[in-house]
Amino acid sequence: MCSVVGYIGNQVSRAYILDGLARLEYRGYDSAGFSCFDTEKKQLLCVKAVGGVAQLTAHINEQPINGFSGIGHTRWSTHGTATVENAHPHTDCLQKISLVHNGIIENYLKLKHALLEEGHVFSSQTDSEVIAHLLEHELKRADLVQSTCALVAQLEGAYAVACLLEQYPDTLLLIRHKSPLCIGISSHGMFAGSDPLAFAGHVQEIVYMPEASFAIIKKNGLELYNFAGQRLDVIKQSYTAAWEADGKRGHEHYMLKEIYEQKRVIQTVVQNFRTRFAQTWNLALSPEQIKALASIQFIAAGTSWHAAYIAQFFIESIAQMPVRVHLASEFRSLPFFSELNTVFIAISQSGETADTLESIRFLPKSVHTIALTNTPLSSLVRETNGAILMDAGTEIAVASTKAFTAQIASLYLLAHYIAHQKQIITNQALDQAEIDLLLVSEILESLIERYKQEIISTWAPRYASYKQAIFLGRHISYPFAREAALKLKEITYIFTDSYPAGELKHGSIALIDSSTPVFIFSVLDPDVYKKLLSNAQEVKARSGHLVVFAFEGQEELIALADCVFIIPVVKPLLGVLAMTGLMQFLVYHIARELKRPIDKPRNLAKSVTVE
Ligand code: AGP
Repeated sequence: MCSVVGYIGNQVSRAYILDGLARLEYRGYDSAGFSCFDTEKKQLLCVKAVGGVAQLTAHINEQPINGFSGIGHTRWSTHGTATVENAHPHTDCLQKISLVHNGIIENYLKLKHALLEEGHVFSSQTDSEVIAHLLEHELKRADLVQSTCALVAQLEGAYAVACLLEQYPDTLLLIRHKSPLCIGISSHGMFAGSDPLAFAGHVQEIVYMPEASFAIIKKNGLELYNFAGQRLDVIKQSYTAAWEADGKRGHEHYMLKEIYEQKRVIQTVVQNFRTRFAQTWNLALSPEQIKALASIQFIAAGTSWHAAYIAQFFIESIAQMPVRVHLASEFRSLPFFSELNTVFIAISQSGETADTLESIRFLPKSVHTIALTNTPLSSLVRETNGAILMDAGTEIAVASTKAFTAQIASLYLLAHYIAHQKQIITNQALDQAEIDLLLVSEILESLIERYKQEIISTWAPRYASYKQAIFLGRHISYPFAREAALKLKEITYIFTDSYPAGELKHGSIALIDSSTPVFIFSVLDPDVYKKLLSNAQEVKARSGHLVVFAFEGQEELIALADCVFIIPVVKPLLGVLAMTGLMQFLVYHIARELKRPIDKPRNLAKSVTVE
């Protein structure tokens, strides 16, 4: 949820830290801070600001600080509002320790009370500040290694920490437990980051800090320890990724750029399935194990959960096996039933969502797990048996668009792949699935062009004036309706709710009046369509305002609409994919009408690395 960056080397740290924070700003932008060790003054200096990296940079330009070691942080608030006092870095009583933290210290209140009793003076409401004071306490009686062991023995929760200490001026301390943290190695120094993107292009090698470890880093080397203080082997991997500072490519927002990338994303998914299967589809299952599969279980959050819910329809009808879709944040609170011949597929664009990671960690080691992710170097890939890589390119906008589309396309192919392995479908049907996806990718893009002007000039201004909206779907379009509702609320702040259309008459229909637009997403199954049409008529009978996504030929439904988008007929299970770009484009322009910070909506972050 927050981002942690660090540097120690032969070059000054400020530019690296600010650049790294800017690259990871999608992880949180309530406040930001930079701290460094000034070798001339021999003291730790710090600048913090409310807002993002731009605000921090402006403050640093007023009071320029620099040093050969530095740490930085952008914050998504968990404890304490977004103020300068609560911004990281946090220090101990004597400002001789400066640290930044990503995660949640669950027992911070108990620790804080004990430290207050000892006379420590706190300056923030955060849980993170407790770490600085506790380390101050431990350093009074032991060296850095032993003090760090004593520190982590008392912390409960998740934490990725980067820390500078006046007592150890040539050292950067990193601590990792459940929250991601990695080390970049360059010819001139050592980098730290919550995400390798922070230092991509600056380094040649990378070290992924093992779970429950800490590193004592000097400018030309590092020592890795477990929480018992035992040395660990340092496993260096080559890391030559470049930072694609490709910007918005002329679009006003990353979200719009990523909406327009979706046709190519679907094509890439199909291409990878055809020609790069070995590199991007590592299920880690033998053909015999796939044949023996009896069920699939998904674990995901947010938009990824909506993709999993849609995939349930794919797999149950094509691969003819039962699917369970678990909400990651709920999964560990519910009873777990071991099942034979089942696999758990964790869907996560970032591969760092704490709810999803913790669910995977909760599973017995005997359970086979697969990651479906857009981030090959993520914790999720490292902690599952197999991985399907979406290869959608970095998704910067907090509101997920192309990742959702890549998930749907990948899961559609997965359903066909399993069915083909089980000899339920023929080679021809498998090839046809690829062709169907490529066709839908064309339709997805063409629909945006078809309705672009109408949306910009008429519909977005109109729906931007409403204070709430309802989204309805049936069968496979119900999870899609939930996704549409999430998109609208998260970038426009308009209140939305979504229901299975058949549920409306069981209570929620009381909400229907002319002040609440009702968005209905149609389906191609004729029986389900008939019922959806009835639901639309129920809405109209109560003066409801209908925004309809209908398919060609569905004249009765089209006639009911106050606003209608007509989708060409495609394979029934791909109907929602065909309308995805149009839905996202409409929501984007409603948010643009409202002048919202579309790529970085309030209160949100791109990667939710706290539970
Ligand atoms: C979607 O627009 C949101 N950004 C959010 O719901 C997101 O899908 C969710 O946090 C899951 O993220 P993940 O796919 O990276 O696990």
